[in-house]
Amino acid sequence: MPEAATPLAPSPLCRLDDIPDGQAKGINWGSGADRQEILVTRRGGAVFAYHNRCPHVGTTLDWMPDQFMSADGQHLQCATHGALFRVEDGLCLRGPCAGRGLTPVAVRIEDGAVHLDATAT
Ligand code: FES
Repeated sequence: MPEAATPLAPSPLCRLDDIPDGQAKGINWGSGADRQEILVTRRGGAVFAYHNRCPHVGTTLDWMPDQFMSADGQHLQCATHGALFRVEDGLCLRGPCAGRGLTPVAVRIEDGAVHLDATAT
């Protein structure tokens, strides 16, 4: 009887080292109707991920590829109207969508790589 094939581990979104500490990276994940635009931001050994979609009018946040941070590096910033979002939970602190938030994406770090976390609820 042949052995069952070992399931392939899902591809990581990126390596942790692909994201400079204090910065963020945009990732296009999937294809076709399942394609998602995700941003992953790093604080030391921790990462926080969100859909790259501003809750104000739905544009992507970055003004250039991988440029998501405010000038002082403290917040995620929407390039369209300047809304500022807290890195740790995506809450809009200032701007036209104040009080609303980015949509979180569950991720985990495993062996130095950032993966979507299908086990998160
Ligand atoms: S679209 Fe982001 S603040 Fe307006």
